[in-house]
Amino acid sequence: MKRHLCAGLLSFCLAVFPFVDAVAQSNRTHLLSSEQTTLAVTTNDGGTAYYQYFGPKIQDSDIGGFLGVQSNYTGHTLPQFGVSSAGEKALAVEMPDGSLSVDLAMESVTRSSDEKGEVLELVFKDRVYPLVVKQYFRNYKGTEVFSTWTEITNAGKKGDMKLLTFASACVPLTRGDNYLTQLHGAWAGEHRISEERLPDGQTVIADKAGLRNAFGSNAGFMISLDGRPSENRGEVFGGNLLWSGNYKTKIVATNHSIELISGINEETSTYVLERGETFRTPEFAMTFSSEGKGGVSRAFHRWARKYGMAHGDRLHDILLNSWEGVYFGIKQETMDQMMGDIASLGGELFVMDDGWFGDKYPRDNDSTSLGDWMVCSRKLPGGIKALTDMAARHGIKFGIWIEPEMANTKSELYEQHPEWVLSQPDRPLTQGRGGTQVVLDLCNPKVQDYVFGITDQLLAEHPEIAYIKWDCNADIMNYGSSYLPRNRQSEIYIRYHQGLHRVLDRIRAKYPDVAIQLCASGGGRTNYGLLPWFDEFWTSDNTDAMQRVFIQWGASHFYPAIAQGSHVSASPNHQTGRRIPLKFRFDVAMTGRLGMEIQPKNMSDEEKEFSRRAIEAYKHIRPVVQFGDQYRLVSPYGGSPLAALMYADEKKEHIAVFAYRMEYMADQSLPKVRLDGVDVNRNYRIKDLTPVRADRPSRLDGKVVSGRILKYAGLNVASSLNRPMSSIALELVAE
Ligand code: DGJ
Repeated sequence: MKRHLCAGLLSFCLAVFPFVDAVAQSNRTHLLSSEQTTLAVTTNDGGTAYYQYFGPKIQDSDIGGFLGVQSNYTGHTLPQFGVSSAGEKALAVEMPDGSLSVDLAMESVTRSSDEKGEVLELVFKDRVYPLVVKQYFRNYKGTEVFSTWTEITNAGKKGDMKLLTFASACVPLTRGDNYLTQLHGAWAGEHRISEERLPDGQTVIADKAGLRNAFGSNAGFMISLDGRPSENRGEVFGGNLLWSGNYKTKIVATNHSIELISGINEETSTYVLERGETFRTPEFAMTFSSEGKGGVSRAFHRWARKYGMAHGDRLHDILLNSWEGVYFGIKQETMDQMMGDIASLGGELFVMDDGWFGDKYPRDNDSTSLGDWMVCSRKLPGGIKALTDMAARHGIKFGIWIEPEMANTKSELYEQHPEWVLSQPDRPLTQGRGGTQVVLDLCNPKVQDYVFGITDQLLAEHPEIAYIKWDCNADIMNYGSSYLPRNRQSEIYIRYHQGLHRVLDRIRAKYPDVAIQLCASGGGRTNYGLLPWFDEFWTSDNTDAMQRVFIQWGASHFYPAIAQGSHVSASPNHQTGRRIPLKFRFDVAMTGRLGMEIQPKNMSDEEKEFSRRAIEAYKHIRPVVQFGDQYRLVSPYGGSPLAALMYADEKKEHIAVFAYRMEYMADQSLPKVRLDGVDVNRNYRIKDLTPVRADRPSRLDGKVVSGRILKYAGLNVASSLNRPMSSIALELVAE
């Protein structure tokens, strides 16, 4: 990245990147605005383009104020390697003659609009080689989210170009007392928050797993501009790369600037661009808030419900999933019993998980059958038809689990098509889960047809299927495609995902209404690269409600409650062995898309009676939780003995509040639970949603309290959280 030290006055530091060009006369500054925010990009015909500003909304009439003010940093929107080599680059291309140089000049700028909002298109051409790069900036109508991406074309008549670096975004931020908030984790411990002061030098958030890109880290991150960010105060930039595969965000901080480069992780991913071929980078989504981290999260949540996920405007069903209830022990009678039980508890959907398929090799454990998507007739003699009929009889919907991108080497599919799996000639296959799992080669169009066919056959033969759980329990192993030519083997990490997206496009074109859950051994695919085709993600295989408070808290930084699958499971918990009261388990699961994952037959009558009431209560607040704004009130991170969060509808008339006792010591004082999301000019009537005994609600039940007290003095939850693992779920209705 070039740095210019220009003479002139000191820059008036506005918001995220107040960078100005003092000299160029042909500069034009283009504003893209939302209700509260403006992104300003300055272009220079025949030259370059650079970021001018991203922050609180400004007007066209303000643009003149940028000129004549000092800049010490160009903030080029697309720094290129070759003519200049120092610093970070967004684009590096090897030309057909071997030259490693790009030198772009701006040809045109066009502003247009579509159903999603406004788009600014900048067209650049290389001064020597036939390389055309279009760079886009968009605002998403009705939200505070903006995005940017590029399209890179080899417009030459001879020879391939090679893309070596192809970032989606290169964004400058104001250096100050910055903090970086990001997620990290592992299987059963996803989405843990890390928040550190941003050091000088390079910080990298990256993934290289190939498929499950959200375990070790997440593509979402926030950078504060003015000190340690709080939930409701401070200027915070939020970013997220909308990509399902390997990503890399590099943040380069010096004592006077920050530059962040985000895109597909280009490591071992050189991409060949043939004559006439265009490569489109994924969108980098960004938002800015002066209301702290909570403001950034709410912006992403609103955007997600409108643009970033499937069916974000439709209430999601309360379900029972069979996995932790019976694991591989699928049987027709058991399915009937479970459907009957969840229907009687007020649930709306039953999902039959793993274990239902395989003919020659029945799926009795995880070592066989992936790929053989025919019903195991021993377990399900009546086939899927008998199950959908049962669901109809019980008055609920039916859903089914598949893992269509995978095979086991012990399967009929592998016996027939060993060439369809990712593999390396002359090397033995590394096999994953169950000792036999391998990954199908979605670079291959025949495999894409096959994967589409699995879903198509299920849904065409059984139009009653309302929900699919789409699982993925492996990363890319045996890196090698027998379909791709030798010079394109380095494209597997990218072409796999392009192939997967094509399959998902076909499924959604034919089956727009079916609900599909995105699962990857839990939350391994919590990303916006895939959510546009999916209704929700399975947040974690860890269903321990205590740990879920942390896991869901982390995920909520970037992903909305409506998309977080959150299930009540058995006690002791199967992952941690912890015993947790049923009320606590419900109070936690109710903050996302509520479900159960348990054998209801093993529950006592009292537990069933409580579950029935809790499900009924959830239905009252479901629109608030699923469509409302979330406010994180007291964080479980950092040692607080309690955690609390709330949801409010747009008018702040209907509110749901949840608080949990995370640690219990005698005489321990509890922090105030200030309800940030209430209207201070309203009074609210409080209702206890989940009393253990219906006739003994919390002392808060029935009280009418002003918004001012709730926000400034806080809600006193001490009497309700006076036991280890106690919790409370409240509904507040404005009077
Ligand atoms: C991993 C998922 O995360 C679980 O919920 C379950 O579906 C299993 N796979 C089934 O094999």
